[in-house]
Amino acid sequence: MKVLVIGGGAREHALCRALSLDPQVTALHCAPGNAGITQVALTHPVDPLDGSAVADLAVALGADLVVVGPEAPLVAGVADAVSAVGIPVFGPSGEAAQLEGSKAFAKDVMAAANVPTARSYVCTTPEEAAHALDAFGAPYVVKDDGLAAGKGVVVTSDLQAALDHAASCERVVIEEYLDGPEVSLFAVCDGDTVVPLQPAQDFKRAYDGDQGPNTGGMGAYSPLPWADPELVDEVLRTVLQPTVDELRRRGTPFSGLLYAGLAITSRGVRVIEFNARFGDPETQVVLARLKTPLGGLLHAAATGHLADFPELRWSDGAAVTVVVAAEGYPEAPRGGDPITGLAEAEAADGSAYVLHAGTRLAEDGVTVLSAGGRVLSVTATGKDLDQARGRAYQATARISLAGAHHRSDIAAGV
Ligand code: AMP
Ligand code: GLY
Repeated sequence: MKVLVIGGGAREHALCRALSLDPQVTALHCAPGNAGITQVALTHPVDPLDGSAVADLAVALGADLVVVGPEAPLVAGVADAVSAVGIPVFGPSGEAAQLEGSKAFAKDVMAAANVPTARSYVCTTPEEAAHALDAFGAPYVVKDDGLAAGKGVVVTSDLQAALDHAASCERVVIEEYLDGPEVSLFAVCDGDTVVPLQPAQDFKRAYDGDQGPNTGGMGAYSPLPWADPELVDEVLRTVLQPTVDELRRRGTPFSGLLYAGLAITSRGVRVIEFNARFGDPETQVVLARLKTPLGGLLHAAATGHLADFPELRWSDGAAVTVVVAAEGYPEAPRGGDPITGLAEAEAADGSAYVLHAGTRLAEDGVTVLSAGGRVLSVTATGKDLDQARGRAYQATARISLAGAHHRSDIAAGV
């Protein structure tokens, strides 16, 4: 099977790494990729947002499967363009990706499918926003309706800050504050059948102790020893299957990866958000534990054959990933600095490895330079979380990047 992966972050590096370990995958390509992905896939300088360029590349390569990683191409309809040339694609249509592309659309689907989520108002004027904020009280949750790379959400007890964020967006969703730990649960879907993966936890704030601004995610771990063993079944029954059924009923079936961001509140599980693609950095730890070959699973989803797919197999061990971010991330990340110690960070037995997010090769073709906010995702496995965490931080310590920062409390004390 020839596979083409679209995107160039740590999630795509994790996808390419897992696909490269699948014996069924005979050729692996990625567009545009990054400096790390070149080690496992042939990369192509194609704009991931350009549906016809992606479809042309897939045809030229004779791809049997295209996997679209990030949300922006999905919302732009890149999966539709690939489907139109008759190549199986893992990733939802532009219409189904509205589940992530518009928070208001997601709320509407959840209401129709009876999926538990925070009560909310969709507001388009400052007066409506002020009224909604008053109705729920502090802490205030104000979300930009459109895509914002994890940075469109403000959670604050400062009414003026909440009003200011609302005023800076065209359309906002204002909702009730959800208390309790967060869980990311991914499910592979073919429009009909839903196969949940193992849950993971992400660390959204920039600094230790959940301080600082929201980011795309600073680290993750899996499994969650504190979670109810029934959690996955419950979320499948109350959230994932009803959502997929509702989208099919609307004539926009969801095939691809459905990501439920959940809060485990004192009143039960609630959906914080849906995404229409693998989460980053949770994918790094979930795929590190998946023993079932990934290519076959994604191909079965893309071709509508999940119902016949054998039960997934998982490692009993744990995985932890630590994101190394550029100086200034998330506000104003600095790029273009050399990174050293990458080879030294890799464990000979494969228990620790570096996934690249924002990197590129320098003119010399050897030096790796930073080229993004989140630069690396240092991932490790172990028999339990303590061992995986120790290995991840040991590997992180071997890497040097001027001004970089990472959290030191990923998977600590769980
Ligand atoms: P989102 O982009 O919707 O996932 O929101 C980003 C982050 O904001 C989430 O991971 C939560 O930490 C926080 N957040 C979003 N919605 C709520 C809510 N209703 N109550 C509490 N925290 C929230
Ligand atoms: N880790 C959060 C996200 O992928 O949106």
